Amino acid sequence: MEFMKALYERQSTRKFQKTTLSQGQIEIILKAGQAAPVGRKLFENLHITVVKNAEALAAIKAAAVEATGKPEANPLYDAPVLFLVSAKEADQPVNIANAAVIVENMHLQATEQFLGSCFLMGIMFNGTLAAPGLKGKLGIPEGFSPVAGLVVGYPHGYLIEREPTLDKISYNIVE
Ligand SMILES: Cc1cc2nc3c(=O)[nH]c(=O)nc-3n(C[C@H](O)[C@H](O)[C@H](O)COP(=O)(O)O)c2cc1C
Repeated sequence: MEFMKALYERQSTRKFQKTTLSQGQIEIILKAGQAAPVGRKLFENLHITVVKNAEALAAIKAAAVEATGKPEANPLYDAPVLFLVSAKEADQPVNIANAAVIVENMHLQATEQFLGSCFLMGIMFNGTLAAPGLKGKLGIPEGFSPVAGLVVGYPHGYLIEREPTLDKISYNIVE
């Protein structure tokens, strides 16, 4: 898929088929994340976790139910794979920006592979991933905290290419 097509087909998918991703698909997405710009070259402050394990995904869903008090909470949308970007000093703007651009690169790369994906930040800030023992279960290194994530899987149906627009976000040009 060409770049412009991936850009305009990128969209949030929240309904996934059960089929998981191959190692090759995961590595292509990881390489896109690794290609992201990183402020102050703080590569050592970042870590990516790929969660494919059904029990670990279920533990995150259960933690979200607990954290939100909503029995219907399903923040991963039953996607088969979750990419989590963690950072040291996770409250620092540069680390939040770094994690976000890594996720966006992976989001576009997933789209390029005709996969559905959805950017996630809610579970980082509503206490879900702070559930006792969860970070350890996910193998997130000591001193790192999850900042941004991406669920990926096969969508139901096709991704629909959207029309480019100038209307969604206001702008001004200083001539
Ligand atoms: C920083 C950021 C955080 C987001 N967090 C979530 C989230 O926690 N859960 C979710 O379902 N979508 C999340 N989204 C996806 C947005 O809701 C989505 O991008 C927006 O509604 C526009 O839709 P589109 O992606 O289909 O263009 C997030 C997107 C961004 C950029």
